[in-house]
Amino acid sequence: MTEHVIERLGHQGDGIAPGPVFAPMTLPGEVVSGTLNGQRLEQVRIVTPSSDRVAAPCRHFKTCGGCQVQHASDGFVEHWKAGIVREALRAQGIEAEIAGVETSPPRSRRRAGLSARRTKKGAMAGFHGRASGTIVEIPDCQLLHPDLIAALPVAEALAVAGGSRKGELNVSVTLSDGGLEVAVRDGKPLDRNLEVALAQQAEALDLARLSWDGEVIAMRRAPGQIFGPARVVPPPGAFLQATPQGEAALLRAVMEITEGASKIADLFAGCGTFALPLARRAEVLAVEGDRAMIAALDRGWREAQGLKRVEGVTRDLFRNPLLRDEFKGIDAVVIDPPRAGAEAQVTELAEARVPVIAHVSCNPVTFARDAARLIAAGYAMGPVRVVDQFRWSSHVELVAGFRLTSA
Ligand SMILES: C[S@@+](CC[C@H](N)C(=O)[O-])C[C@H]1O[C@@H](n2cnc3c(N)ncnc32)[C@H](O)[C@@H]1O
Repeated sequence: MTEHVIERLGHQGDGIAPGPVFAPMTLPGEVVSGTLNGQRLEQVRIVTPSSDRVAAPCRHFKTCGGCQVQHASDGFVEHWKAGIVREALRAQGIEAEIAGVETSPPRSRRRAGLSARRTKKGAMAGFHGRASGTIVEIPDCQLLHPDLIAALPVAEALAVAGGSRKGELNVSVTLSDGGLEVAVRDGKPLDRNLEVALAQQAEALDLARLSWDGEVIAMRRAPGQIFGPARVVPPPGAFLQATPQGEAALLRAVMEITEGASKIADLFAGCGTFALPLARRAEVLAVEGDRAMIAALDRGWREAQGLKRVEGVTRDLFRNPLLRDEFKGIDAVVIDPPRAGAEAQVTELAEARVPVIAHVSCNPVTFARDAARLIAAGYAMGPVRVVDQFRWSSHVELVAGFRLTSA
């Protein structure tokens, strides 16, 4: 059997040997053998292991597709993720200082997208398998908060009640201060009987809120999230930072970068993760594309005590970015776009000459493109902090500050 020497880890977490040959669950420096299927090595055998190799902490690692790098030490994963950020910036001609990697602890994920389906015996729920579309059950998952593990039987019960025979339910589960909030997509179409059955399930399973394809079926307790001094009840399935530790790390950096600002624009504001804590010390213009999220943010602000003014605006920032003149009077911007980045918005922002920008990103490639544009417009980039909320995955998040240096 031919042996291959792994040279590096690709962005999806596979080891890559010359060829290229892609070998899952391997590490740089390892000598491996296996059966080649195209460019992919299967039935991989580790001939010479790396000193960074560790025993995977989760018994589901081999079959479950939720994690990619549990076979590597924490130190290796940090170094790898920092390297992904460094490389993306280098491709834009930027040498970055990486200020550190803050990794969320195991069992800290407070929201997850589960898959569930009916089976002959009942139902099953979990994550998709490694390189397969089948569902793998994950009762000992090391990522999810224990209260989300308790959501697995909930997803199964909902698949029995409202899953079609062929299709899979997409079950988004989130921990809230009211208990478990569940937003289901791709179930059977709602009719009166299904609504009654689902409402009974929400009662029996003690759910805070259950929604079905966007429609609220039961709201037994408001599923609140705490953002600084405010309590917000997000719309069903709304974006929420994946772990409380990750959110705290991002917020700490955003607060530090924008310190001293008295009027801040928070672009792609979600339900107010940054805007509401920032409003303790500055007026905030919070702009977000989803109307229901802005309504939730606004309600949270009105009910909170001691906050400065927060103006919530619903606006599609891809098609209709805030124009340079609209930044008049703003002395700091927080921008946290989705994976696609915010090219149109950053183009305007680069010309608006706002003194300080805190850029939060879940995609190092689009971040690096934005960084290059801001630097070309006269900004200096501060240290980049990597925040790893999706530990053991190939996902990378980061935050960095930009300060206007040239007139
Ligand atoms: C990465 S999330 C960040 C949300 C928020 N900053 C937080 O930390 O909770 C990106 C946000 O961008 C919003 N979004 C996506 N596309 C948008 C668009 N075209 N215009 C405005 N907002 C958009 C999403 O609804 C989501 O709330």
